[in-house]
Amino acid sequence: MARLLVTGGAGFIGSNFVHYVVNRTSHDVTVLDKLTYAGNRASLDGLAKHRVSFIQGDVADPALVDDVVSSTDAVVHYAAESHNDNSLADSHPFLHTNLIGTYTLLEAVRRHGTRFHHISTDEVYGDLELDDHQRFTEETPYNPSSPYSSTKAGSDLLVRAWVRSFGVAATISNCSNNYGPYQHVEKFIPRQITNILRGIRPKLYGEGRNVRDWIHADDHSSAVMSILEKGRIGETYLIGADGEKDNKAVVELVLTLMGRPADAYDHVKDRAGHDLRYAIDSTKLRDELGWHPQYRNFEQGLSATIEWYRDHEEWWSPSKELTEAFYARLGQ
Ligand code: NAD
Ligand code: TYD
Repeated sequence: MARLLVTGGAGFIGSNFVHYVVNRTSHDVTVLDKLTYAGNRASLDGLAKHRVSFIQGDVADPALVDDVVSSTDAVVHYAAESHNDNSLADSHPFLHTNLIGTYTLLEAVRRHGTRFHHISTDEVYGDLELDDHQRFTEETPYNPSSPYSSTKAGSDLLVRAWVRSFGVAATISNCSNNYGPYQHVEKFIPRQITNILRGIRPKLYGEGRNVRDWIHADDHSSAVMSILEKGRIGETYLIGADGEKDNKAVVELVLTLMGRPADAYDHVKDRAGHDLRYAIDSTKLRDELGWHPQYRNFEQGLSATIEWYRDHEEWWSPSKELTEAFYARLGQ
């Protein structure tokens, strides 16, 4: 049994990971989270108090980070500014958290000899053409498009440099788009579900031909546990569940599953620099570590996610109005 430090554990994927660890392993967890607009302590409700301790703070605070890292066995680093549209409106928090925050953690794990796992995104690779037969692999060159993805790419490169130069015991994973409970209503799928619940028409950027490769957050968590337990130090593993869908198909499915006509959505202004397609080849993770996803049916996973948002209006409602006001200013 070990104590894991989970940064960003009050965010979407981090909180799903904390639930996963507490429910399926014997590890205890310390969460370090700044509770930005994207963090929500209620996402950790219901977990046994003696298994999870919570510290509110900034991953870019060297004294705090040193103190917290000194009493943990491994760090799983989820904390980030994570939304492309926000990064186009104001990049500064992305540089602070994604770059300085990761640097601060790397210096602390270097001092304390602590195992480190860095959570990243497939967006560091840029995008693919719709008709390209290739998918991203661990060998694909980095080519990020947005302030968000470029700061995530920079954070990955910092981790690689700290492994090579200072012998830090780190691994990296780059995952595709996640869906599931506890995702902020700014993101594509929860925005459309909560729009429909509020009587607002879903909003599709541009023509909606952009393709994302969807994976359930629980499958992301199981992959990260496999890498923590069995991954080779210094290695990068891509995480994906063969879930490519274009945005139009996803909006239509959400509408249909919620009993609305499939065409009851609006086309809105496209995102600047909008990546066309992401697709992950996760052969290395599957062959080397024996990982495979549990959620193989997107429609079932999406239905369960819709039910979760129906049942947890008190969780998402406080963020909804501000989020829609932000999008209204952008014309989206
Ligand atoms: P999120 O925005 O839902 O959560 C981020 C969390 O980090 C929040 O709880 C926030 O309060 C916290 N945080 C932000 N700045 C902080 C700081 N300076 N110090 C401490 N805590 C801070 O993000 P998410 O979607 O859960 O993404 C988590 C990680 O997974 C990110 O590193 C992201 O790049 C990566 N990722 C996300 C996806 C996806 O589909 N959402 C896919 C692949 C990888
Ligand atoms: P998003 O959830 O922001 O994730 P990412 O940009 O990291 O892929 O968006 C997923 C896709 O959905 C992306 O192609 C942009 C598109 N999108 C919409 O069409 N409408 C929306 O309201 C939002 C938020 C996103």
